[in-house]
Order: sequence, then C-alpha cells, then structure tokens
Amino acid sequence: MRPALALVLLAAVAPSARADDPVKVFEQRLVPIFKSPNPSSCVQCHLAAVDLKDYILPTSRDTFLALRDQGLVDPDRPDDSRILKLIGRGKDDPGAKLIPAGTRDAEYAAFKAWIRACAADPALKTAKAPETAPALALRPVEVVRHARTDRVTESFASNVWSMRFRCMNCHTEGTAPCDKLVKEHGERVAWFKKGGPEATMAYLLRSTLIDFADPENSLLLRKPLGAAKHGGGIKFVKGDQGYRAFRSWIEDAVAIRAGKYAKASDLPPSDAGPRQFGSEAWLKLANTRDAWGDKLLQVNVHAWDATAGKWEDAPVATSDRVVWGKGKLWQHTLTLLAAPGSERAKAWATGKAALPAGRYLVKVYVDQAGRAAADWRLTLGAAEYVGAVEVQSRWPEGYGAMTVADAARVRRE
Ligand code: HEC
Ligand code: HEC
Repeated sequence: MRPALALVLLAAVAPSARADDPVKVFEQRLVPIFKSPNPSSCVQCHLAAVDLKDYILPTSRDTFLALRDQGLVDPDRPDDSRILKLIGRGKDDPGAKLIPAGTRDAEYAAFKAWIRACAADPALKTAKAPETAPALALRPVEVVRHARTDRVTESFASNVWSMRFRCMNCHTEGTAPCDKLVKEHGERVAWFKKGGPEATMAYLLRSTLIDFADPENSLLLRKPLGAAKHGGGIKFVKGDQGYRAFRSWIEDAVAIRAGKYAKASDLPPSDAGPRQFGSEAWLKLANTRDAWGDKLLQVNVHAWDATAGKWEDAPVATSDRVVWGKGKLWQHTLTLLAAPGSERAKAWATGKAALPAGRYLVKVYVDQAGRAAADWRLTLGAAEYVGAVEVQSRWPEGYGAMTVADAARVRRE
C-alpha cells in the first residue's frame, strides 16, 4: 500500500485519533521556551539547579522518549504527566509574582498540547529509545533540594539575618538609626529589609555587595572587616562567628548560582549544626584577664535543665568578639541556638527569639593561638576552653541593660 493511501484510510477509519503533529507543536511551542533568554517559572521556587529548558532536547522525538523513560511523561494518561505537575506547582504560590504573569500558564499549555500530540501517535508512544539517545542533563534530587529557594532562605535566615544585631540597627530598614544614615548615604544602607530574611536575601542577590566571581572579595564581607572603607568601622574579624556565617552563606549561594554542585557529594555538609536566631540581649564579661587582651573570645551559654538537674549539653546561645584588653572588658549581643526541628526552633522561627529568665552557665573560650583567623571555617572548642561562670538573668534587651558576668570568677569545672 502506498503511504499516502494508508494515511487516507487511517483518517477514514479513526477520525477522532487525528491529532496535531508532535513535531510541529514542538517547533512552535517548546523550542521558543528553550530559546528564551528568560528564566522559566521554576525560578519562583528553585533558586537554581532546575530550569524547564533542562527538560527539552533538540528534537521532539528525543525529548519525548527521554521524558517518557524518566517517568516525567505518562503516554497513557498524558494530562497526568509529572512534568505538568512540576509546571503547575506554582499556580497558587504567593511567590508567583516573581515571574511575569502568563509565563507558567504558557509553559503548561505548550507542554500539555505537545504531550497530547505525542501520546496520540501510537508508533512514537511505544518506540524504544536508541542506546545512543541524548540524555536530559538533570541534576540529582539532593542538588535540586539544596538549591530550592526556601532552603537557601532558611540558611540565609540562620546565617545572615540572625547576625543583624551585630550591625546594630545601622542597616535595618525602618529603624531610627538606619533612617538617619539613609539621609546621609542613600537607600543603599538600608539593606536589612523590613520584609525580613526573604526580602533581604532577594535584595542582596541582586546587589553588587556579593562578588559572584570571587566570594571572599564581596563588599558584604570587606566592609565589616574594614578591608574596604566602612562608615560603621570594624564589625567583623576574620574567623569570628559573624564572618564565618556570612562567608559560608555567600560561598554556598555563589556555588548554587554558578551550578557548581553536580552531584550530592559536592554539597556542603548537611549537618550544619543548630539554627541561629538573632537577639538584642547583651552579655558583658567584666574584669577579663590580661592574657585574653585583644584576643577573640567566645562564650557558649548553657541553660539549667531543672528536670535533669544539670546544665544542658548543647549551648542555647553563643557569641564572640575581640576582648578590649585595656578596658578588661568583653561584651556583645547573643545569638540564640536551637536544634533544627526542635520546639525551641519552631517557637523562635515564628515568634520572637528570647531566652527565658533563669540560671545559665557561661563557658568561655579564648583563641590565644589565633586559629580562627588562620582558618575561618574553624569553630573554637576544647583547645581554647578557659573555664565557666554562672549567671542568673532575665536577659533584658539593649545596650543599656546588659547581663554582666564577672570574668574573675571564671573557673574550670
Ligand atoms: C511553587 C513552588 C515550586 C515551583 C514553581 C516549582 N517547584 Fe519544583 N519543587 C518545589 C518543592 C516544594 C519541591 C519539593 C518536593 C516536594 O516536597 O514535593 C520541589 C521539587 C522538585 C523536584 C524534585 C526534587 C525533590 O525534592 O524531590 C524537581 C525535579 C522539581 N521540583 C522541578 C521543578 C521544575 C522543572 C519546575 C518548573 C517547571 C518546578 N519544579 C517548579 C516547589 C516548586
Ligand atoms: C554604626 C553604624 C554601622 C554599623 C554598626 C555597621 N555599618 Fe555598614 N555601613 C555604615 C554606613 C554609614 C555605611 C555607608 C558608607 C559606606 O559605604 O561605608 C555602611 C555601608 C555598608 C555596606 C555597603 C552598602 C552598600 O550598598 O554600599 C555594607 C555591605 C555594610 N555596611 C556592611 C555592614 C555589616 C555586615 C555590618 C555588621 C556586621 C555593618 N555594616 C555594621 C554604618 C554601619
């Protein structure tokens, strides 16, 4: 039978089976998505590692076979295909405003029409993919998860947002000190946004304060270090908790953006320790020893566990700063700590992070060998431990209402 005749016959037998030509639909609707310089709707929730373009190969046939064999297209129930679910996910998401209206709907309609066209082609539907078929360059789920905007925001909240009180209120939008600096220096100083961690992260990622080519060189680090001229003076020393937290978040964000994570083993360790929450509770150590002068001193604050009749093993707060040798004084705001998923973490994430009144043990660590400056990833520990002192406090907030511990009473237990 001549092919033309076969087509006529087929059309006559099953007119309802006539469908659009998958290749045509592909060229007209999917190729423009692939070629578009604009990001796909996925960026609404995935900072990187995922783009709808990754799901499109140069030809309709290769794309279909690859998606089908990865379980992303269901040839028997085309409208239930997983790829449509992925595209449809953002429908009711508040973040939808991040992408131009219509982008997702257009993607959805295009894929749906093309999948239907493919599924209506019996030969294509069941075709076997050749051994040499091009594969989709999809990232492993671990990497996709790591680069999800909600995960990166959570890490930002714990690492950068939690440190905002180390910058006093100079950079916190809507506070009196910041408003005053905005008048002198412009809106750029108000970079801790009123909208919270999410808004602040989005702003910083768009700003020039992060150096995507050389993260260590970011103004977000160099200004507080005093390595670049800074209106607020020196607020970080290399290797202190503020520097370490900012630097590790910046390094990670840059690696995510640059697509440096290809496999799960490229990711930073998932056990990133406790979640951190900023507080305006100040702790002062008076009468610091001469030997501690001008060294980086860290405190770990342990709460009293009345039920167990002992100090909690994990610190509930921490802080560090260089000791003012001449004044025999150390003082700073506390960063509160809670295990991820714990009751404390949940309460502090949704409400205000604050320590309850009570008894606390302040453990003191002094970096006499300058180890933190030599390796910014290092955390001070047993080698730097000099002893502990007990305090009783309600933890009032503010520079004018510090909780004071007498460093002369610091003893090794
Ligand atoms: C509204 C937010 C949102 C949008 C938009 C979105 N995703 Fe996701 N995506 C998620 C969430 C949340 C998960 C985590 C999986 C879960 O819990 O179901 C996820 C997981 C994934 C995963 C699997 C990795 C895992 O964690 O199991 C892939 C692959 C993926 N998305 C691809 C895409 C693609 C492709 C697009 C764009 C077409 C897209 N997503 C758009 C929120 C979104
Ligand atoms: C006493 C107020 C004050 C404190 C505290 C302070 N800064 Fe600043 N900061 C300024 C002023 C004023 C400017 C504007 C002049 C300049 O660029 O140095 C500035 C500018 C900056 C900029 C550049 C902003 C831009 O878009 O140009 C960065 C980044 C910065 N500070 C980071 C920090 C960090 C991080 C901290 C805390 C760890 C901090 N600052 C603490 C006053 C302060």
